[in-house]
Amino acid sequence: MRRMIIAGNWKMYKTLEETLVFFDELSSWEKDFRHENQILIFPPNLYTMSCLEKTRGNDIDIGVQNIYFKDFGAYTGEISPPMLTSIGCKYALVGHSERRHIFAENDEEINRKILSLLKHKKHIVFCVGEKENEREDGYTEQVLTNQLRYGLGDVGEKDMQQITIAYEPVWAIGTGKTATPEIAQDAHAFIRNWLKDNYSSHVANKARILYGGSVKVANCEGLLIQPDIDGALIGGASLKINDFIEIIKKGEEVANRKDQ
Ligand code: PGA
Repeated sequence: MRRMIIAGNWKMYKTLEETLVFFDELSSWEKDFRHENQILIFPPNLYTMSCLEKTRGNDIDIGVQNIYFKDFGAYTGEISPPMLTSIGCKYALVGHSERRHIFAENDEEINRKILSLLKHKKHIVFCVGEKENEREDGYTEQVLTNQLRYGLGDVGEKDMQQITIAYEPVWAIGTGKTATPEIAQDAHAFIRNWLKDNYSSHVANKARILYGGSVKVANCEGLLIQPDIDGALIGGASLKINDFIEIIKKGEEVANRKDQ
C-alpha cells in the first residue's frame, strides 16, 4: 500500500500574515486528527522558514516551489538545495507547468534541478503533463514519455524512492476543467507502466503518482479512489483552509477504502 499525499501548491498567493493564520488553524486542527496520509504544502519560498516553525511538532511537511541547481554562487534571486538543508526543509517542487511555460524551463534544466536535489537528499515532487492541443492532437503519451525520459535522465533506481510524480494536465490547471477520473487514471497507469519499463516493477509499484489540476472538495473523491492515483497536488483549493481540511478528510476516507 502506497502512502497517499495531499499536497498544496500555493503559487504566488497570500501575505505572511495570511500564511501564519492558515498554519495556526491547520496545525491546531491536525493535532487532533489522526491521519495516515502525508500532508505537504508548498507555500511561497519566502515563507518557508516561518511555515517550518509553525508546523514544528505537527505531521505536516513543507517544501519550496522552486530551486536553482547550483549549490552557491552569483545567481541573483535564486535559492539552492544546500540552503534548504540549512533551514531543515526536505521537499521541493520541480517542473511545474507554470515554470515550464511562463518561465521557459526545459526538460534539461528540470533534470539538473532533480539531480541537484537528489545529491542533497531532498524529496522531489516532479510535475509532468500535456497541454490542451497536445491532448487534442493525440500526443499525450509522447509528451509524458519525453518529460519523464529527459526529466529523469541519470536518475538511478534507488533515487526513485525520493521522487513523487505529479500528473498535471496543463489544460486542467486553474481552469476549473478537471480531468475525469478515467482520463486521469489512464494517464497515471501510463506513467506507472513507463516506470516499470524503464526502471522496474518494484519502482513502479512503490512510486506515488499525484493528480493535479482543478482538484476540489467536490471532485477529489472520484479522483483519489482510482487505483493509480496516490494523492493530489492542489492549487486554488489548498488556499482555503476549510476546503483543504475537507480534502484531507476525504483523502483519509479513500485511503481506508483502498486499504480494505
Ligand atoms: P489548481 O492548480 O488546483 O488551481 O488547478 C494545481 C497546480 O497548479 O498544482
